[in-house]
Amino acid sequence: MLTEAQQATSRRRFLQFLAASPLLAGTDFAAMAAERPERLPDPMVWAPRQLDKLISSPKEAINVFDFEAVMAKNVPPAHFNYLASGIDDEVTLRANRADFQKFVLRPRRLVDVSKVDMSTEILGVKYDSPIIVAPSGGHKGYHADGEVGTARAAKVGDHLQILSTQATTSVADVIAARGKPIWYQLYATNRFEIAKHHVQSAEAQGAIAVAVTVDSVGARNQETLFRGRQRDTRVCSDCHDRSSLEKNNVRRPMYQDIPPTASAKVVGRGSQGRAP
Ligand SMILES: Cc1cc2nc3c(=O)[nH]c(=O)nc-3n(C[C@H](O)[C@H](O)[C@H](O)COP(=O)(O)O)c2cc1C
Repeated sequence: MLTEAQQATSRRRFLQFLAASPLLAGTDFAAMAAERPERLPDPMVWAPRQLDKLISSPKEAINVFDFEAVMAKNVPPAHFNYLASGIDDEVTLRANRADFQKFVLRPRRLVDVSKVDMSTEILGVKYDSPIIVAPSGGHKGYHADGEVGTARAAKVGDHLQILSTQATTSVADVIAARGKPIWYQLYATNRFEIAKHHVQSAEAQGAIAVAVTVDSVGARNQETLFRGRQRDTRVCSDCHDRSSLEKNNVRRPMYQDIPPTASAKVVGRGSQGRAP
């Protein structure tokens, strides 16, 4: 009979043996078993997603990643890779995914779960869900409905939506589709009057708060995006004029009627990393 300590040692050795197996090299399992042997591996190892069998309707999705494979098929490589891109060799993206698995739900027993209430209040507004739709730019690059489509989806689950400065749909249209006020995300520029214009315009259209993005302070090396561009047969400059800020953003509602921006640079947005 093995003691508890001996059992733990055998289990750890077994997992380390599996992790070292060439069959599993490079998989999440190998990484997780090596790093955290006490955790079970990702079930993907024995229940892989079949990339040749895509879902044909959202109802068929088992989880949110089933959409990603459909998108990879339908969206041109440059746009798909922009969305999929992290930074450099995707080290952070991988680390984020692995670390996210360290969060676990703590089940509470003997609790009445017949009515689950996940509602929360943020800045005086109540939402049914604590999950927020983070800002991301250029939704019309992915679907003609743009951010209005995202707003309709956010409405279904009553999620707070934060609309990007780089949105391709106006604040007013998004609020109309969302049926509730939204927050506006601000990319600051080196010209105060541009930030002022953005914020005043968002407020006039009904945004109730501003989220200032402060974590992009230099150029972004979006290697995954660059690889997608190489595979894309379309000519980027047919749609994207990166010769100046105002030309690049000519189709973005938040840049309409903006004060002259000839010398404006978006602070914190690298020349390589503009939205599609
Ligand atoms: C394709 C893409 C576009 C994004 N666009 C914006 C943006 O316009 N403004 C912004 O503040 N953050 C933007 N972000 C950052 C997200 O809002 C979010 O903070 C980030 O993706 C981290 O959350 P995640 O780990 O759930 O992806 C973008 C992220 C991605 C992947």
